[in-house]
Amino acid sequence: MLLNITDLHLSFVGGDEAAHILKGIDLSVAAGELVGLVGESGSGKSTSVRAALRLYGDEAELAGSVRLEGTEMVGADPATCRRARAESVGLVQQEPSAALNPVRRIGDSLAERLVRVHGMRRREADARILALLTELGLTQPERRMRQYPHELSGGMLQRVVIAAALSADPKLILADEATSALDVTTQAEIIAIFQRQIRERGLGLLFITHDLHLAGAICDRIHVLRHGEIVETISRPGLFAEARHPYTRSLIEAAPALERRAKS
Ligand SMILES: Nc1ncnc2c1ncn2[C@@H]1O[C@H](COP(=O)(O)OP(=O)(O)O)[C@@H](O)[C@H]1O
Ligand SMILES: [Mg+2]
Repeated sequence: MLLNITDLHLSFVGGDEAAHILKGIDLSVAAGELVGLVGESGSGKSTSVRAALRLYGDEAELAGSVRLEGTEMVGADPATCRRARAESVGLVQQEPSAALNPVRRIGDSLAERLVRVHGMRRREADARILALLTELGLTQPERRMRQYPHELSGGMLQRVVIAAALSADPKLILADEATSALDVTTQAEIIAIFQRQIRERGLGLLFITHDLHLAGAICDRIHVLRHGEIVETISRPGLFAEARHPYTRSLIEAAPALERRAKS
């Protein structure tokens, strides 16, 4: 199993009283699987991912278990967590600024990480980045590599961030609203690239979105998150008929279905 989260709890302990945000999350992603984590804004999607990767400091208290390719993350020392993340995971966050240094050229940001963390030669790293940016449909990729983040549009930046996440051939991608800010066509292109990696090299993908219909169209399994709890798991997402929980039904009915969206 690439990712195995069992009974994960998280409380933020900074303020006057602890805020119990995650209340016993269970989910797993195996190689070659596309798993959805769906919930409204504030339900705890981003917190789940950041907690699983141990990206919080002392402000967050964790209980339960998160195993990344067998390595226990909860309670592990920072070096172990860093190594497990570098070896296994590509993270795509909502905000491109989280992944890119604003004062570095894009090519330098992406290639230097491959050199520093993964011991690649710089020329090899540059070639890998250029190939990925091209595959991800970025126009004028060589020029983009010499540009700074503020010179690119939001859609271009999101492709760069996805290229960064894929560049070290991670076994698992955690995509937190990775395509939500993109137009429908671009979104479909990026999803097709993920799907090819799932098919061709057994990538595991946790696809996090507020969009239940999109998740339903592409995921093997969907976990529905509400107020820090998984209220329902749908194992055949194409067939929403099996969704029982009133919250899931309300999400299904709240958003227009994909077919209807495509026509409008
Ligand atoms: N650092 C933090 N300190 C305190 N509360 C937080 C922190 N980060 C997130 N939260 C709270 O945790 C809840 C879940 O947030 P989040 O995981 O970002 O939701 P989602 O990604 O589903 O929109 C929200 O109520 C949010 O206010
Ligand atoms: Mg979020």
